[in-house]
Amino acid sequence: MEMKVVRTTPFKDQKPGTSGLRKKVSVFQQAGYLENFVQSIFDVVEDLRGGTIVIGGDGRYYNDVAIQIILSMAAANGVKKAIVGQNGLFSTPAVSHIIRKYKTQGGIVLSASHNPGGPKGDFGIKFNGENGGPASESVTNAIFQNSLKIDDYKILDKSKIELGVCGTSKLGDMEVEIIDPVSDYADLMESLFDFNAIRDWLASGRTMRFDAMHAITGSYAKAVFVERLGAPETALMNATPSPDFGGAHPDPNPVYAKDLFDTMFADNGPDFGAASDGDGDRNIILGRGIFVSPSDSVAVIAANAHLVPAYKTGIAGVARSMPTSAALDRVAEKLGIEYFETPTGWKFFGNLLDAGRITICGEESAGTSSDHVREKDGVWAVLAWLNILAVRNMSVQNIMLDHWKTYGRNFYARHDYEGVEVEKAHAVMEHIRTQLDTLPGQSFGAETVKFADSFTYHDPIDGSVSENQGLRIGFESGSRFVVRLSGTGTVGATLRLYVEKYVTDPDRLNDDNHTALADIVTIAEKITDIHNLTGRDKASLVT
Ligand code: G1P
Ligand code: ZN
Repeated sequence: MEMKVVRTTPFKDQKPGTSGLRKKVSVFQQAGYLENFVQSIFDVVEDLRGGTIVIGGDGRYYNDVAIQIILSMAAANGVKKAIVGQNGLFSTPAVSHIIRKYKTQGGIVLSASHNPGGPKGDFGIKFNGENGGPASESVTNAIFQNSLKIDDYKILDKSKIELGVCGTSKLGDMEVEIIDPVSDYADLMESLFDFNAIRDWLASGRTMRFDAMHAITGSYAKAVFVERLGAPETALMNATPSPDFGGAHPDPNPVYAKDLFDTMFADNGPDFGAASDGDGDRNIILGRGIFVSPSDSVAVIAANAHLVPAYKTGIAGVARSMPTSAALDRVAEKLGIEYFETPTGWKFFGNLLDAGRITICGEESAGTSSDHVREKDGVWAVLAWLNILAVRNMSVQNIMLDHWKTYGRNFYARHDYEGVEVEKAHAVMEHIRTQLDTLPGQSFGAETVKFADSFTYHDPIDGSVSENQGLRIGFESGSRFVVRLSGTGTVGATLRLYVEKYVTDPDRLNDDNHTALADIVTIAEKITDIHNLTGRDKASLVT
């Protein structure tokens, strides 16, 4: 097999977003598109030459093609060894674990997360560094800069490797080790949680449903929930992974996981329900008749972490992304531990986790995890809940009520305006920005604005500064709303409006979420003028 140097010309649009480079499959299918980006990774991350890389993806359409290209390019770029999931598969948290466990120089994750798959769907590629987490902004910027001036890439001629059988082989001079994508990860989970307690709880007649949404976590769920914890096969829904997610949208929310929601809200529904997304890093948690908002979920996990063997001696600190509700802050105050507010995107937790400043972190967008990996981790969050339920032996509903009584409740919702014309989305942001100086002190109904700003993050570990991370309008009551532009969309612009209402009145803790939020939504729509400026009379999706 010969190494070829192929002439290429740059693409101008390879700037990674919130989570790697994400585009339509057809964009990735253009000659040289994937190759340019992959070569930019090898050009920038010099440690990969002579090092070991982990490669795998969520199995979506084009995963199989992309992985062969990346392996050929890794071999041509002098990588010593590639660790690849069998059939090219790994969930995102599993890649993070494998990088850390085998101390490799990094990994490449192929996924577009919760975005739809198939020939007309989305594809994505992301580089994770040796800590197992998404590369920092300085690295992703360097990769982007490289992609703007690239003029050739290196690849082995006519190489292809069989990925179906575990074992070791050679591709050019590079060693390729194909491993079972699940077992290392399942072992890690077993080392963190009280599997005996969960097994007993399930055996005592408690019931659960896990919706894998036709995605990769089907394989992980079978190994963990069924084989190791004894749940019946019927506890799993949509557990066979498919390249187009069964034609569905692998985003765990009330719209796309409707079957699960219907099951959980039915009379005599299961005790516990959960779902994860296309690449297994997101999760949602439900109980019989109740959906736990992801912002609340991370707060409950932090408050009860001492019941989980891995965290029984306490947690160092916690962090949440800026738009995530402040429920987690309340828990940290009570525990007397540090808490941090970071920009949206998992990469911002990496430094805090590496420095041992935080143990648990989460995002409102169904992401929760701990310092066991450097990605959010869907199955981990589900196991954390199962562990807590098994020890406390209370319903999800009662755990939530108990939590709200102790800390107050942060009612929460996110309103997404998807596929908005880019200029219109910017007009909304600009309209709010011009009011930031004059809003504080103004009253709207019962609420008075306490602060209004554009969020800037000063990383306490490396001192880096990230500006323009969203606009925040906070009220004296502890309620607030936030507006930001999505960094993961592939069509037009997506505006996200996050609304939060803080309530401590014991009689109002069980109010309906959307009713409780109505006044904040009205104020937010007035200040942002979002309907008028976007030409939309309502959000595309409310979660
Ligand atoms: C979205 C979520 C964010 C998450 C990211 C990757 O990014 O809001 O919390 O980290 O997906 O899963 P956004 O589209 O808002 O930039
Ligand atoms: Zn995901």
